[in-house]
Amino acid sequence: MRLDKFLVSTGEFTRSTAKDAIRAGRISIDGVIATRPEVKIDETKCDVCVDGASIIYKEYHYLMMNKPAGYLSATEDRKDATVLDLLPDKYRKIGLFPAGRLDKDAEGFLLLTDDGALAHGLMSPKHNVEKVYEATVDKCLEDEDVTAFREGVIIDGDYKCLPAKLEIPEGHDRRLGVTTVTEGRFHQVKKMFLSRNKCVIYLKRISIAGVKLDFSLKTGEFRELGEDEVKQLYTKAGLQR
Ligand code: URA
Repeated sequence: MRLDKFLVSTGEFTRSTAKDAIRAGRISIDGVIATRPEVKIDETKCDVCVDGASIIYKEYHYLMMNKPAGYLSATEDRKDATVLDLLPDKYRKIGLFPAGRLDKDAEGFLLLTDDGALAHGLMSPKHNVEKVYEATVDKCLEDEDVTAFREGVIIDGDYKCLPAKLEIPEGHDRRLGVTTVTEGRFHQVKKMFLSRNKCVIYLKRISIAGVKLDFSLKTGEFRELGEDEVKQLYTKAGLQR
C-alpha cells in the first residue's frame, strides 16, 4: 500500500495532510524517515511511526454505537442528521457504514463498520443472526402474544415471520417485551407487535449475534469492539477470522 494511502486509512490524515506530514519528516518507516508519499509499504509488517509513535494498522474498523433517536441509519442524507454525524472526523473519513438499520426513532446497538463481508454476512437471511430488542408497547402484553411470536406472526399482509422469542419481564406493567428475531424486514419488530394490536412506542436494540450493547455507553456514544466481540460476530456471520 502507498504510504500516504496507509496514513489516510488510519483516519488521522487526509491525503494532503499525509503528504505534508511526510514532507515535514514526521513519518518514519522501520526507523527511517520517509520522504515520498508514494513509497510502497507492507502495512501488515512495517513499523510506521508518526512523530515517533507507532501506528497500529487495522484493515477494518468496528464500532458499537448506542444510537439515539432522531438520527438516520445512513451515511448521508439531504434532510436529516445521520449516525455518521455523531462520529469525530477521524472515523468519518474511513468509509464506515451501518451494518443493518435502526429506524430513525429507534435507539440502541448499531454496528458501524467498513467490513463489507461482515455486514453482508450478518444481514444475510441464510445466517439467521439473532437481534434482541426491548419494545415498550401501548397495551399490556398477553401470554397469547408470546405464543403467536413463537409460531410466527403475519406481517405485510401475507408474510409469515420466522418464529421469534418474546419475553415479558416482571415489573413493567406487561408493557415491555423483549423479543429475539432473526429477520430484518423494514419495521419488522414494530409490525410484529402491530400484528398483535400493540403499537411500539419505544424500541431499543440490545444485542446483535450475542454481542450485547455496552450499557455504559450513553445514547450517542460509541466505542470500538473488542477482538472477542468481532470474533463472535464473524462466527455468527458464517465467516472465519
Ligand atoms: N424493527 C423495527 O421495527 N425497527 C427497527 O429499527 C429495527 C427492527
